[in-house]
Amino acid sequence: MSPRPSTSEVAASVAAQRHLAGSFLDELRAGTRDGPGVTRAAYGDGEEFAHALLARYATDLGLEVTRDAALNTYVTWPGRDRAAPALAMGSHLDSVPQGGNFDGAAGVVAGLAAIAALRGLGLGRPSCDIIVMAIRAEESVWFQLSYTGSRAALGMLPPQALSARRTDTNRSLAEHIAALGGHPEALSGSSPPLPPGRIGAFVELHIEQAPSLVEAGLPIAIGTAIPGNFRHPSACVIGQQGHVGLPRRFRHDAALAASELALGLDAIWQEHEAARTPMAVTIGRFHTDARSHGMTIVPGRFDFSLDIRAYDEAVLTGLETRLHELIAGIEARRGVRFELGPRTSAPIARADPTIRAALEAGARELDLSWCLLESPASHDAAAFAAAGIPTGMVFVRNANGSHNPSEHMELDDLLTGIAVLAHWVRGVGFVA
Ligand code: GLV
Ligand code: MN
Ligand code: MN
Repeated sequence: MSPRPSTSEVAASVAAQRHLAGSFLDELRAGTRDGPGVTRAAYGDGEEFAHALLARYATDLGLEVTRDAALNTYVTWPGRDRAAPALAMGSHLDSVPQGGNFDGAAGVVAGLAAIAALRGLGLGRPSCDIIVMAIRAEESVWFQLSYTGSRAALGMLPPQALSARRTDTNRSLAEHIAALGGHPEALSGSSPPLPPGRIGAFVELHIEQAPSLVEAGLPIAIGTAIPGNFRHPSACVIGQQGHVGLPRRFRHDAALAASELALGLDAIWQEHEAARTPMAVTIGRFHTDARSHGMTIVPGRFDFSLDIRAYDEAVLTGLETRLHELIAGIEARRGVRFELGPRTSAPIARADPTIRAALEAGARELDLSWCLLESPASHDAAAFAAAGIPTGMVFVRNANGSHNPSEHMELDDLLTGIAVLAHWVRGVGFVA
């Protein structure tokens, strides 16, 4: 095999990883099945199973496997210069409850298969370490925090994060990390697991979480940006509990107040759509209080969560102003009070132009059909970008949406994305 294999040799070697990728994903599904989907709670049994499975596959390939204080797993193909900034690929291995098998896991197995494919070409050692990172706790449903594992690795966890409680167990992030043998105390100091300069670039492959690639008839896309957001995980409206027969003028109905907020935000979203300014509003939790609600009771309290995201700082700031104006109007009209509770936020991330150009060049050289895509979803790559590490993303077509059990990914489409990853690593990871 030549030291500079042709693009078609790279593609053929990636295609030979079909069994590796397919069997990893099948074993992962079987080991974390929960009802119609899979559950891999952050620092829970399913996520542990996934990390152990990765470690087994990586060890079988003869790669190094290590874990950091936050229990992120690193699979490393050692380079000639171990001190040089490494090239990293990867994604997260947790899932939402009864979610799909591919959200996160596709990016981890993609990195592993890209390395396996390049090793199959007999290129010798890469110039720097090539790492596949399996990240903990990306899904904010568990600790109501963005990018927990990646920010822990990068030394960017906010100070209160270690006391955040997992929504199902009510145990803190620190307790969960320690219970699995990790070292939460090492995550708030000045020596993060990934010190500045350790990672030179990070590329994350991920399934698309909307059907736009299906709509476009394309197997993959190259990412351009990841939205920033502000969130209120535990907001509520306080009204006045009352009798079902109460005339409207006496009511302070918390459910109708929350509904007015929801529809008001949807109207703002439609204005932005008409102006072609991408954004999204999600109220993932929206409910009366189960301890006191009933068909003949005017709700006195209504709880909800709020995630508002966009790709432009000025748009996000404007949306937050509109949110507060909307709330003030509803409070005045309905005699209720909104308590938005804690606010979290994540910055907008743009793909690094050099990485993006290299991924695009790879897709062209491999003669693929592809497009550019702004990610509708948050991804760990944004945490790397926030740390000043150049990042890129590759998206893979998915027919059935995400955060549901029916996510669908064709292995052929995944292999197409892996070919782009492998092409990128071959181009930048083997300098003389
Ligand atoms: C999760 O996937 C998100 O987009 O925040
Ligand atoms: Mn997700
Ligand atoms: Mn994900």
